[in-house]
Amino acid sequence: MRKKLVVLSGAGMSQESGLKTFRDMGGLWESYDVTEVATPEAWERDPALVLRFYNERRKQLLQAEPNAGHRAIAELENHFDVEVVTQNVDNLHEQAGSTKVLHLHGELMKARSTIDPFLVYELDHWALDIGDRCEKGSQLRPHIVWFGEPVPNIPKAIGIVESADILVVIGTSLAVYPAASLVNYVRRGTPIFVVDPGKPEVFQKNVTYIVEKAGKGVEQLKAELKKYM
Ligand code: APR
Repeated sequence: MRKKLVVLSGAGMSQESGLKTFRDMGGLWESYDVTEVATPEAWERDPALVLRFYNERRKQLLQAEPNAGHRAIAELENHFDVEVVTQNVDNLHEQAGSTKVLHLHGELMKARSTIDPFLVYELDHWALDIGDRCEKGSQLRPHIVWFGEPVPNIPKAIGIVESADILVVIGTSLAVYPAASLVNYVRRGTPIFVVDPGKPEVFQKNVTYIVEKAGKGVEQLKAELKKYM
């Protein structure tokens, strides 16, 4: 039977696709602290500003393409039962061909109702504006988990990590909770590979560090994984 390989990815995964992360922006956008634009309080105070911020990120995404790292992860499906759990709100894993992707922090290319959280819509363009409404008549908001909001997919993600035969962590500083705590749910003895030029510390046994960017690092990872195929 194929082994279950779980990939936990973060902002560094999309860095080579040219997507700017909050930290790359130096934490500021038009002199606003980005962590203050990405909150429910900001949405209450100035929804137009919040929509503008995400519209810009969506414009960036529509110009971006998956990089060699995304593509190599998609190709791992030829050898493993792969599930990707990502903190990224872009859809570059899906564009590269990964078929099982769970988004922890929401999805940039989706909008949702502000009165019914189950009404979620795909966006095919960058603009989401004041006056764009759900079928029940309420304003649409970005389908994003803002700072201070619960992360509804965490229980599902825990289940996925618990079922891993191999865990791969790529491009995340493991600094933002609860996503960062997911590595603690691996079964004892599970091999863990960390692909990251910054070498974030993972407090587990059986950790192999590949201190490279995602593109080159996943190639190296593939060689390491041969013995599990
Ligand atoms: N390839 C792989 N890793 C990279 C690359 C690259 N090309 N470039 C940078 N990195 C690594 C950095 O060394 C760092 O460890 O990616 C990691 C990025 O860390 P963060 O910026 O903290 O991103 P992430 O862990 O995804 O942040 C979590 O915080 O910004 C919020 O909600 C947002 O989902 C995000 C969350």
